[in-house]
Amino acid sequence: MDAVKDLPSKLNDEKHNEEASIPPPNGLGDIRHQLNFFDRIHQTGLKTVQALKITLNQPEYHHPSKAFILSDVERLTGISRVTIRDNEKKGNIRYQDNPPGITKSEYSFQDLDAIRDYFKVGFFNGAVKRPAHLEPIILSVAMLKGGVGKTSTSTNLAAACAHEGLRTLFVDLDPQASGTMSFGYVPIIDGINPSSISSSLCDDFDDIYKIIRPTHYGNLDIITSSLELQGADLILPNPSINNVETMGPPMQRLQRVLGLIKHNYDVIICDCAPAHSSVTLNALAASNALIMTVTPHMLSYGSSLLFTKELQNFMEGILDFSEENDISPDQFGIHNDIFRLLITNDPQDAESRDVSAFLRSLYGKYVLNNSMISTIALSRSQNDMGLLYDVKRSSVRKSKSSFDRGMASMEMVNREIISLFKDHWGAN
Ligand SMILES: Nc1ncnc2c1ncn2[C@@H]1O[C@H](COP(=O)(O)OP(=O)(O)OP(=O)(O)O)[C@@H](O)[C@H]1O
Ligand SMILES: [Mg+2]
Repeated sequence: MDAVKDLPSKLNDEKHNEEASIPPPNGLGDIRHQLNFFDRIHQTGLKTVQALKITLNQPEYHHPSKAFILSDVERLTGISRVTIRDNEKKGNIRYQDNPPGITKSEYSFQDLDAIRDYFKVGFFNGAVKRPAHLEPIILSVAMLKGGVGKTSTSTNLAAACAHEGLRTLFVDLDPQASGTMSFGYVPIIDGINPSSISSSLCDDFDDIYKIIRPTHYGNLDIITSSLELQGADLILPNPSINNVETMGPPMQRLQRVLGLIKHNYDVIICDCAPAHSSVTLNALAASNALIMTVTPHMLSYGSSLLFTKELQNFMEGILDFSEENDISPDQFGIHNDIFRLLITNDPQDAESRDVSAFLRSLYGKYVLNNSMISTIALSRSQNDMGLLYDVKRSSVRKSKSSFDRGMASMEMVNREIISLFKDHWGAN
């Protein structure tokens, strides 16, 4: 182990040896060359990301929160701008840290809550706060196949929930950390410690309190991820190191750890890795809502079937275990209140229409009516390490109509999902 640890420094010492053995024309050569190469790429790549982050002035906790202008507030609260202004002047709406009677030009998430509170148009039958008898929703966005829009869906849905005034937590359960970076956090650069939920799952539930961080969306917190999370997938299934005596069944760790903090939130959204890993199983066990994302291609359709097979195995495993140990399977607390399939990255061409029709005939009412169209706006927002909701329309230079189409599609998908939350809670 020590020898492996020492390798990079030795390698630096031996950099002058690079020329001694010549790598093959299309390959990287011996282990030293390979390490040198990957080290260089890593270091240079990090500098690029860091520079990008500074250039973009990426939103982080120390950056100003996202703010809204009056027309946004009108759209988000459903209260006309004239009525808002009128009541501001009369001093009826009390904004935190502002004297009564102030008319605002910029509104924070808290200001939105103050307006919703005053006009009784909060999410929960007019109330801004979730009534105590309603449980928070824990939603996993999962699919075995990679690149099918899990992160795009989960990050933007989290932002949409925050816009609705829902207190939201985004949990990045993918060591690739794309969701984390979409919120402007780059664990390796930002020196975040702990950088993932791994230690909360494997060592100490209380670590969860150290890893929740704010985002620039006032109502939205994040649990970041990093490569470190891969460790959890090795530790959890291994009975000799998974602390089963002190921390209980390895598949229920996330359920237990989220149980410590879930009442601070209305919605918790878990972005899963494209793998049937221990962490993904933990997410499935912890959630009462599941969205599976599928692109309208036959290969993606096939992967969705493999994933359903894995889910079936998972449920069977729990039922068998319960039977063998003569316990009720209900004690695992696994219950699904909301399940939907979301068609993502939909080019809306003839081919995709055929596959979408297959998906709809197979999953029936469980396919969301709205699919997320393919849109350059989304990939651009991700290239800027952000969300679609971060893109200011005024900054879109050429293709405003394409941006509008992408945004409208995203909004319709999110509205449909959030309306399922409303139904579940009996809110209107
Ligand atoms: N609706 C869309 N329009 C255009 N591009 C999209 C759309 N949805 C996803 N993409 C692109 O597809 C790629 C994969 O998307 P995303 O990261 O959301 O998928 P994922 O399922 O989370 O991937 P992974 O399995 O690797 O975690 C990204 O480059 C993203 O920009
Ligand atoms: Mg992802």
